[in-house]
Amino acid sequence: MDYKHIRTTPADALVIFGVTGDLAHKMIFPALYAMAKRGLLNVPVVGVASSPWTLAQLHKRVRDSIRQAGKIDDRAALDCLLSQLQYVSGDYNDPSTFGALKQKLGAARRPAHYLAIPPALFATVIKNLGTSGLAKQARVIVEKPFGRDLASARELNRIALSVFAEDSIFRIDHYLGKEAIMNILYFRFANSFLEPIWNRDNVASVQITLAEDFGVKERGAFYESAGCLRDVIQNHLFQIVALLAMEPPAFQGFGAVHNEKAKVFQAMRPLVPGDVVRGQYTGYRKEPGVAKKSDVETFCALRLFIDSWRWAGVPWYLRSGKFMASTAAEVMVELKPPPQKLFNDSHPANGRSNYLRFRLSPNSAIALAARVKCDGKAFVGEQRELYLLDEHHGAELPYERLLCDAMAGDGALFSREDAVEAAWAVVDPVLDTHAPVHPYKPGSWGPRQADALIAADGSWNNPIMVKTKK
Ligand code: BG6
Repeated sequence: MDYKHIRTTPADALVIFGVTGDLAHKMIFPALYAMAKRGLLNVPVVGVASSPWTLAQLHKRVRDSIRQAGKIDDRAALDCLLSQLQYVSGDYNDPSTFGALKQKLGAARRPAHYLAIPPALFATVIKNLGTSGLAKQARVIVEKPFGRDLASARELNRIALSVFAEDSIFRIDHYLGKEAIMNILYFRFANSFLEPIWNRDNVASVQITLAEDFGVKERGAFYESAGCLRDVIQNHLFQIVALLAMEPPAFQGFGAVHNEKAKVFQAMRPLVPGDVVRGQYTGYRKEPGVAKKSDVETFCALRLFIDSWRWAGVPWYLRSGKFMASTAAEVMVELKPPPQKLFNDSHPANGRSNYLRFRLSPNSAIALAARVKCDGKAFVGEQRELYLLDEHHGAELPYERLLCDAMAGDGALFSREDAVEAAWAVVDPVLDTHAPVHPYKPGSWGPRQADALIAADGSWNNPIMVKTKK
């Protein structure tokens, strides 16, 4: 399956709404720089934001962003990026901002508008792009979270579709552009040994952990409107679940992948409060932009069921948190033990039976754990991992890949409307109905109530941090 099947005309300009913000600084400028290094940045880039900045200020911000992400190691690429960059400052509610943007776009006729702005502003900008005539032949790239619940996602889809066609709307989830996550799809369906065991007969449970050893940093205000469930679970972790749980695509091409992923979300059982444990690190309420009595979760663990033929009865445990003991993301697919206990040693100390482990970040690896006999007369063994390490030196950054794809009109690695809404339908019942957050210590693995959630099926796999070579 070649995902680079591009049949559309490429965009002839990139517009970044929210160009002075955190996302642009952290992700978008490094991605544009990487594109320039590969010779792929050959259209004007117009930044839009409300701050009354000069172009020189924006240039400074770009340099600073690239230095923070690595280093400036290609002057010509940096010059190329800076020379393409223009700036429009104005209020997103004011039609004259869009008039000024139109002027800056000059001869460009097929811009890609990237909304790197707070979700509450998406609808305003999309509507104004429509009324100002800037949506014709254009594309719109929307950052997650797409909506903040099922109703708002539907409403946002309605507004977006009143201005843009579905194939011109690119809902970004940068996890879909990560090598290790694309490899889940490949590994599952490019090999034949997995399929016979990849079901409820052989899989005991699946766990996914996305842990970060830092807090909300300067994003307190955003986080207050989102929380962990909306920020990473309903999107990043659910996308991983979909790739792990989906049926084989019926034909080559990403339309089939989208169909199968949407079915997984549709088969997920809507959550009830007892499936969810929310936590908050101590000190969060003192972060800038955070309410003194905030009940927003910085940690969330949940138990999920996919009521499909393949997965009925298999629990899926998802967990993510800020200020945890390490920064790492990992999937653990635990297999059922053999039907008979022939050796007295067959229950390892940590109680885990054979498993398949996908390490997703910061490095990427796949490990298959199996028991092997130790030396000696006695039939005593230990569980060891067959380990497949992948290094991705020089791989495209997720945002680089996804921006290039959106500009080329290739929606393979983006989320489809029906899938986004089906994913919201799963979390919707617990967005407002839940127990208060449990406090946890920064640097821990979250509140102990999360251990109780998984206890019936074992214990959490705590992925350790490893240093990656740059
Ligand atoms: C973002 C979330 O979408 O993903 C952040 O808003 C989170 O809160 C980030 O830190 C994690 O992405 P990555 O690529 O660093 O694992």
